[in-house]
Amino acid sequence: MKTLLVTGGCGFIGSNFIRLLSAEPQWRVVNLDKLTYAGNLANLAGIANERHRFVQGDICDRILIERILKEEKPWAIINFAAESHVDRSILDGAPFVLTNIAGVQNLLEAIRTYPVERFLHISSDEVYGDKEDKESSREDSGLAPSSPYAATKAAADLLCFSYRRTHGLPVIVTRSSNNYGPYQFPEKLIPLLIRNALSEMELPVYGDGKQIRDWLYVEDNCRAIHAVLENGNLGSIYNIGTGEERTNLDVVESICDAIGKRRKRDVREVKRHIRLVTDRPGHDRRYAIDTSSIRTHIGWKPRTDFAAGIKQTVDWYLDHSEWVSAVTSGEYRDYYDSVYKQAWSTGQQSA
Ligand code: NAD
Ligand code: TYD
Repeated sequence: MKTLLVTGGCGFIGSNFIRLLSAEPQWRVVNLDKLTYAGNLANLAGIANERHRFVQGDICDRILIERILKEEKPWAIINFAAESHVDRSILDGAPFVLTNIAGVQNLLEAIRTYPVERFLHISSDEVYGDKEDKESSREDSGLAPSSPYAATKAAADLLCFSYRRTHGLPVIVTRSSNNYGPYQFPEKLIPLLIRNALSEMELPVYGDGKQIRDWLYVEDNCRAIHAVLENGNLGSIYNIGTGEERTNLDVVESICDAIGKRRKRDVREVKRHIRLVTDRPGHDRRYAIDTSSIRTHIGWKPRTDFAAGIKQTVDWYLDHSEWVSAVTSGEYRDYYDSVYKQAWSTGQQSA
């Protein structure tokens, strides 16, 4: 049995990844998560615990990381832990710099003392910046992050490769497009729209809604990460995406269609709540990545197309209304008001 140290395993992608591994008896997972607003132990409900050890803690805590590495001697680390939401990084970038940059540097330093076979860092296609009227980004394309979130992810990628060159660390980086699916916190576009549509609230679309994203079903990303962990080349970057481009307005319409169908509601009535609202500052118009490397060298390709993925996602949120209520109480309301009611002002500014 091989042990993996998974950081951020109580978040959206990390918990889906742990679920995927839980079906494979050769893996044992030590899951280190700080349990920020985005981390939730309920995301792992039902996971057998003899092959899953949870440790609450911060990737910035060197003493804790070194203790875990010494005790567990993991074969690899997969670093999902991050502040992950662009909109929150616009309201306050400080936690992003701490976790996404200092936290990654802390993990890299720790494995200089307690080596692992692989350090797989989970990054994002947002590091390449806005691709409107431009070629899709390849792994060797330049970095031009637009948001504070994307800038911290780009900085972490650069740190990883500097530690590879300087200290020979076994670093691999994946950069995926936008994920969607079960257990995504309802601050991101798709779960936020599903939640609002189910509550007959307004469906906020930033700006003109013609921004383009490549939507990847989370299970497909997890399978890609798993394949890269086992077969990726040390020192390499792998873009992960479907190659299908969709405007945000198309996405909203698809969600409304799926909800109308499942709830037997008039779709025009569901769509009546769509609103074009104040745009996100610095909003990237288009992300587009070239994914030929992972397809050719690793043999991965996505299995779930957008229509099927949206249906599965809408069904999941409908069947997990208690999960949604639990994660949208408390802090969520202040956050929601800052972005949607006060149009990008922080609580402090509006007081
Ligand atoms: P998420 O916000 O749902 O989860 C992040 C998890 O990290 C939470 O469980 C949180 O408690 C934990 N965490 C935060 N700070 C921590 C710290 N200092 N120490 C330990 N744990 C900490 O994020 P996600 O959507 O699952 O994203 C996972 C990774 O994938 C991130 O690195 C993100 O940048 C990247 N990514 C996400 C997407 C996407 O569409 N969601 C796309 C590309 C890349
Ligand atoms: P998001 O899910 O926040 O992911 P990212 O910013 O990492 O791409 O947003 C996806 C797209 O949807 C992005 O173009 C911003 C847009 N968006 C809205 O139009 N309305 C919303 O309420 C949210 C959260 C996002």
